Amino acid sequence: MALTDRFNRRVEYLRLSLTDRCNLRCFYCLPKGFRDFESAEERMTDDEIVRLVGIFAELGVSKVRLTGGEPLVRRGMPKLAKRLSSLEGLKDLSMSTNASLLTQYAGELAEAGIDRINVSLDSLQKDRFRTITGGALEPVLDGLEAAYKAGLSPIKINMVALKGINDDEYGDMLGYCLERDFTLRFIETMPMGEAGRLGKEHYLDLGKVKRDLEKRFELIPSSMPGGGPARYYQVKGTQHRIGFITPISQHFCETCNRVRLSADGTLYLCLGQEDNVSLGPMLRNGSTDDEIRDAIVHAIMKKPERHFFNERPKQFVRLMSQTGG
Ligand code: GTP
Ligand code: 5AD
Ligand code: SF4
Repeated sequence: MALTDRFNRRVEYLRLSLTDRCNLRCFYCLPKGFRDFESAEERMTDDEIVRLVGIFAELGVSKVRLTGGEPLVRRGMPKLAKRLSSLEGLKDLSMSTNASLLTQYAGELAEAGIDRINVSLDSLQKDRFRTITGGALEPVLDGLEAAYKAGLSPIKINMVALKGINDDEYGDMLGYCLERDFTLRFIETMPMGEAGRLGKEHYLDLGKVKRDLEKRFELIPSSMPGGGPARYYQVKGTQHRIGFITPISQHFCETCNRVRLSADGTLYLCLGQEDNVSLGPMLRNGSTDDEIRDAIVHAIMKKPERHFFNERPKQFVRLMSQTGG
């Protein structure tokens, strides 16, 4: 059975947030001093997650990405990843992480069946990294080396393009990625939650970033395995690709193939809209798998056509850290 929405889009990619907590505080994502995190009781247990993802897999979801917050701050996360990777029907289990805990976990994650990771990295400069994230750069760079050694591949670097903050660093970041066989992807800031207002002040159209890079490198349209919205270009003369994720300047909603599950079991149908259905309570009130399956199929019918980040710039939806981007 497949999940198809009103706009004939096939949903096969689930972004699963394991916790809304994070050990960093990227200013455009999670405000400093934010305290309104989910309680432990609200959070789905490992058994509940495995059951629910199993039902999604039966409905044709073949790609699952673990997100957060920071997925690795959830206790026992590699064990959960191992249970998920053994689910029938799942072909691609990936993770989005800030990499700061990977020195400790990379080996275990590879063994648990995590295929590949995407890592947030907005600057290679210590002080600047601290200003953006509130944390230290070194564990992140060490974590990336550990992930590479553990064979998590490909490694994609997510760099949010921030006007006036890191716009002098795109060449350096590309050099760093070329040397290590990482794929660099630029992202436009999205107005999510109260932090979104701060991010918006530094919004940069990636068309400009691409034109600047093209002064130095020839970029040839290309593609890459993955489930997400990046558009890729090969850097001529190398095997390397650069990705551009442009939700604001050139949205990609017509090809949207994904939904998001927050750590408390709320199914969000679009990153840029609040439409959601609570599946968490169904896991605890004796609902059968068939009932949960029906609820998911109905929910997919509510998936909005697209976001309104541009038309309603003052409407900030939930924080990015709640559903992991
Ligand atoms: P791949 O499977 O490697 O293609 O991953 P991905 O790009 O889907 O995942 P990742 O977590 O690395 O996301 C990168 C950026 O793309 C984040 O800023 C996400 O918020 C953004 N993104 C991912 N999916 C969507 C989407 O459906 N809509 C919008 N607007 N942004 C998205
Ligand atoms: N706009 C765009 N990207 C964001 N991310 C977090 N908050 C935002 C935002 N407001 C990115 C992170 C991470 C990815 C999952 O989402 O940098 O790489
Ligand atoms: Fe899909 Fe919404 Fe993202 Fe558009 S903004 S691609 S509809 S999740």
